[in-house]
Amino acid sequence: MKPGSRLPRVGYCLLAMLASSCIGRSVPVESPAAAPLGEVHPLREAAAAAHRHIGAALMSRYLNDVSLGTVVATHFDSLTPENEMKWQATEPRPGEFTLVAGDKLVAFAQEHDMRVRGHTLVWHQQLAPWVTGLTGEALREAMKRHIRRLAGHWRGRIGQWDVVNEALADDGHGLRDSPFLSLGENYLDEAFRAAHAADPEAQLFYNDYEIEAGKGNPKSDAAYRLVKRMKDAGVPIHGIGMQMHVDPRHWPSAEQIRRNVERFVALGLVVEFTEMDVPVGQLRGPLVEKLRQQRTIAHDIVAACLGVEGCTGITLWGVSDRNSWLASPVWARLRGQGPHFPLAFDAELRPKPMFFGIADAFAGR
Ligand code: XIL
Repeated sequence: MKPGSRLPRVGYCLLAMLASSCIGRSVPVESPAAAPLGEVHPLREAAAAAHRHIGAALMSRYLNDVSLGTVVATHFDSLTPENEMKWQATEPRPGEFTLVAGDKLVAFAQEHDMRVRGHTLVWHQQLAPWVTGLTGEALREAMKRHIRRLAGHWRGRIGQWDVVNEALADDGHGLRDSPFLSLGENYLDEAFRAAHAADPEAQLFYNDYEIEAGKGNPKSDAAYRLVKRMKDAGVPIHGIGMQMHVDPRHWPSAEQIRRNVERFVALGLVVEFTEMDVPVGQLRGPLVEKLRQQRTIAHDIVAACLGVEGCTGITLWGVSDRNSWLASPVWARLRGQGPHFPLAFDAELRPKPMFFGIADAFAGR
């Protein structure tokens, strides 16, 4: 049977009808900046056929947009709350937990048979301000209570937790300065142990950016040493998240990324690409050419994951170019002059060349 003639899941179809088209049908689409792009099949089916997860980060308020919800449920089988599980959002005041927005996303995921990647328990950013005033035992207790409460609340409903996010210094020299570092270098071990006790089934991840390049890259090597030390010490760590926020101005080759994935998998960890986006602002040429390059970059990254069995999933950091964090001028600057159009769907939720690059990679093309 041709992929295009596959029957859609009933749930998708009902949802899609609300949004005026049934995704089970093959729908020819055009991007504003590209030639006709072919037919659209659910990305999650292509990913499942390759035994991988395909995810998207999402803010709970986006779910008010039915068409966006339809796209998410149709194409993704993994969901990461973009901000709703961060400390600032979940424990704004000591011991006062606000988990409703996270609950909403988890409920959506369950309704659509999606895995949830919990993001994130311990991070120096988007931290509630009161935490930065703590030290010593008070900080240790606050960290453990926070982890216990969140991991416990969503116990059994979170497939993977990013337990600690971005703990490494940018230059690869040890851990970055963070309020948590005052607990000593082993604060990560304590965090992972607390998370494991609260939700023994969840896969626990260390997650960071610019660790994709592999051997010889200081931060990548620092990540390797860090998780190896933790594994050797018997800390319950199961995976490493490579954020994969592509910066086309300096970016490793797909082969470097693949080899890097391999060395982490050899430690007995799974690898996921947890926050992929491919900003095009600094790519050369007219927009149509930039989008073509973006397609190739995204394709090759997915192919790198497929090249190693222990690479189990890829999550895009958002759904549509309209809602990407890189659409905000503050963050866009990180990647040079925009606009960046960094995701697989355009502002009108039409699949872009990048979408088809990812689909092709899953199909082994
Ligand atoms: C970003 C969100 O997308 C923004 O909405 C928020 O303003 C800032 O954080 N690395 C991470 C993510 O681990 O949590 C960040 O998310 C992007 C970089």
